[in-house]
Amino acid sequence: MTELSSLKGKTALVTGSGRGLGKVMAERLADLGANIVLHDISWKAPEKYKEAKNLGEVAKEFEKKGIKVLTVTGNIGDVQAVAEMCTKIEEKFSKVDILINCAGGDIGACGGKPSPNNALDISIEDVQALINSNLVGTINVCKAFIPAMRDQKYGVVVNIGSVAGQLGVSEGAIYGILKASVTHYTRCLATELKQHGVRVNCVAPGPTKTARFEATRVVDPEMMDSQKASLDRYGEPGEIANAVAFLVSDQAKFINGQVLCVDGGLVNFPS
Ligand SMILES: NC(=O)c1ccc[n+]([C@@H]2O[C@H](COP(=O)([O-])OP(=O)(O)OC[C@H]3O[C@@H](n4cnc5c(N)ncnc54)[C@H](O)[C@@H]3O)[C@@H](O)[C@H]2O)c1
Repeated sequence: MTELSSLKGKTALVTGSGRGLGKVMAERLADLGANIVLHDISWKAPEKYKEAKNLGEVAKEFEKKGIKVLTVTGNIGDVQAVAEMCTKIEEKFSKVDILINCAGGDIGACGGKPSPNNALDISIEDVQALINSNLVGTINVCKAFIPAMRDQKYGVVVNIGSVAGQLGVSEGAIYGILKASVTHYTRCLATELKQHGVRVNCVAPGPTKTARFEATRVVDPEMMDSQKASLDRYGEPGEIANAVAFLVSDQAKFINGQVLCVDGGLVNFPS
């Protein structure tokens, strides 16, 4: 994808980039020349599914390639924690030009998936936890970083939704509802910011082979094969990262308020 404009001189904050999709997105933006702010809820979060020992180890991988990188930690559902992240980032890079809101997931109050996890039986504690780490967290981060983009009349934001937010689902219903709300928040933000030259889009991945994904479900071996011709398969993290890289590039400079499903067409033909 060498035809994409270089992001040299730009600073990108990717939330939840200590592991999983966020890490691959950060790598992709770094390959295009951006300075990178790696973020996770804690220093040790990358260790959970054995992707790295800690956030520092992830940062070293970037530094080895000569990329300017900063690490920040904090729960995005906590306004104070996000304000502290903002101060630290401003001290090193002065501003954020590219914001990827990737942190989130179907993570209940006790850390794993809620159980039960349907629309009626899920506990209110789990509902609150999901609201904080998906919708409120995304809004907190946008409120902290986008006003500076609005002032400088430049900025690009990509929110990470999910096909679970595009389809009716029973298992993971609240997660799906919150990803749908992130999608609509994207449209509203895009409307508010278009006069200021700040673009906001959403990438909605289908089931994608991250370490967490593989560790927290029984995977279908036939869906694991990314080399087969059929698009009935799980996504590769790099396929999601490529969509993010396109949306932040100048090649997408007239694309605003859109949802790009990266799912092999699953959302059109759910089985
Ligand atoms: N992998 C998939 O199949 C898939 C499909 C659709 C959408 N998504 C979305 O993509 C994103 C990344 O998913 P993943 O598969 O890489 O999972 P993951 O659990 O590996 O990554 C999520 C990251 O977000 C961080 N995070 C979660 N809650 C947070 C909070 N409150 N504050 C700060 N950080 C927090 C986690 O620590 C982790 O680093 C998530 O938003 C997820 O909902 C994933």
